Amino acid sequence: MRKPIMAGNWKMNCDNDEACKLACGIVDTMAAPGEAEVVVFVPATALTTVVNCVEDSPIEVGAQNLFWADKGAYTGEISGRMIVSTGARWVLIGHSERRGRFGKLEEGWTEAHVAYFGDSDVTVNAKTRKALEVGLKPIVCCGELLAERQAGRTDEVVGGQVRAMLDGLSPAEVAKLVIAYEPVWAIGTGEVCDAEEANRVCGVVRSVVAEVAGPAVAEGLRVLYGGSVSPDNVAGLMAQPNIDGGLVGGASLKAESFVALVAAAAASV
Ligand code: PGA
Repeated sequence: MRKPIMAGNWKMNCDNDEACKLACGIVDTMAAPGEAEVVVFVPATALTTVVNCVEDSPIEVGAQNLFWADKGAYTGEISGRMIVSTGARWVLIGHSERRGRFGKLEEGWTEAHVAYFGDSDVTVNAKTRKALEVGLKPIVCCGELLAERQAGRTDEVVGGQVRAMLDGLSPAEVAKLVIAYEPVWAIGTGEVCDAEEANRVCGVVRSVVAEVAGPAVAEGLRVLYGGSVSPDNVAGLMAQPNIDGGLVGGASLKAESFVALVAAAAASV
């Protein structure tokens, strides 16, 4: 039996005051999540604040990114050890917004602006290894673009990303990961992937893990779905056998909706 996870990805939202209010709002209204794990991925500036707010609650805290070196001349980056030193225990790796696969042009932006941060299969693998080395629990993301889905390349793209993220890891290391399948076209669009199709692709993720690390590791590995998860669609997603939880952006920014998502994860056990 795999423990479900409900993970909130706050992205670049919440200064310290707002982070404190949101975290406290979740702590105050959330019923005991039972077997489900609850994690909030908060901006680096709010890690210590949120760790303090959720102390003595079942909520765990994660960073949204890390760098693959321990220290040095990497202006603006944060290392895995720095994250550990805040009390956070999780880290998100290779989100499509960091892989530069998002391409969202806002007013006054050019193509050069939306290249974003340029995470690649190679750096996602390096970051995953570093996270495991320092004892952080990684949720590593994968997902296809709309054009790739329309071209019938979903399984090839997602399978390739999963193989790359696992490169060089022992089965015991793979067993420590959580993988999130997030179709890029469903992120922040309100257009959720059909639950059965999301389940099918999460199954593709699991079968690649089985090839790389063996069937026992694949059977135990948690695979989350992300992309416009909301209190309205979460039950259908959680009912799918290959979906072990959600990675949630927009609906994690209000205590009320996030608490409803946690309840759905708890109820799925
Ligand atoms: P969304 O974001 O729930 O707002 O679609 C999901 C994510 O990017 O992790």
